[in-house]
Amino acid sequence: MGKKGIFIVIEGLDGSGKTTQATLLEKKLEKNYKVLLTAEPSRCKIGTFIRESYLYEDKRLPTEAEALLFAADRIEHMYKEVKPALDVEKLVICDRYVYSSLAYQGSAGLSLEWIKTINARALQPDFSIFIDVSPERVIERLQRKKSVMETLETQKKVREVYLKFVEKGELVRIDGDKPKGVVAENLYAKVLGLLKDAKGFVA
Ligand code: TYD
Repeated sequence: MGKKGIFIVIEGLDGSGKTTQATLLEKKLEKNYKVLLTAEPSRCKIGTFIRESYLYEDKRLPTEAEALLFAADRIEHMYKEVKPALDVEKLVICDRYVYSSLAYQGSAGLSLEWIKTINARALQPDFSIFIDVSPERVIERLQRKKSVMETLETQKKVREVYLKFVEKGELVRIDGDKPKGVVAENLYAKVLGLLKDAKGFVA
């Protein structure tokens, strides 16, 4: 599937500040590029269903079913929003993508191979960034903000999967424990560097 734009994915633990960082990145990039900032679970039909069911413990589904729903949402999101934006040469920033499924559903016990298989039809991003915040920090923030609390153990397991992909060179790590403005500058600098390397895509 040929694409004309650039597809960037931002990943991180819940409470890692990745949504704030994705928004700051959008603001900086939008001076020189046409940008679409989007997220998964998406606002499409399947994503909306996931958002409605995911946050409440009593509505949770078996992990396999959740993985299949996330994969189905990804395909719907790709056809309805991501691909049309790339077709008109936009730079798409997606807050969470396949690595979220690998990290969350993988650390919940599913095989990474199976998760890759059910996501095989999802468009390959040009590059994916992991905003790395220590699980202890994330737990502190979540307790302040969220009704659903993830345990420290879960966050550590999720982070381990992300770090595996950093080691393999599939995810680029940004230190998220630095002050917000510093993380934003580092992220922007990293993305500009990666954009320079992405052939034929200059502001
Ligand atoms: P998100 O909306 O990014 O939450 P937040 O903005 O608070 O970080 O994601 C909601 C939850 O969905 C989050 O706990 C991670 C989970 N998730 C998966 O488990 N697998 C996936 O493939 C995706 C996209 C999200």
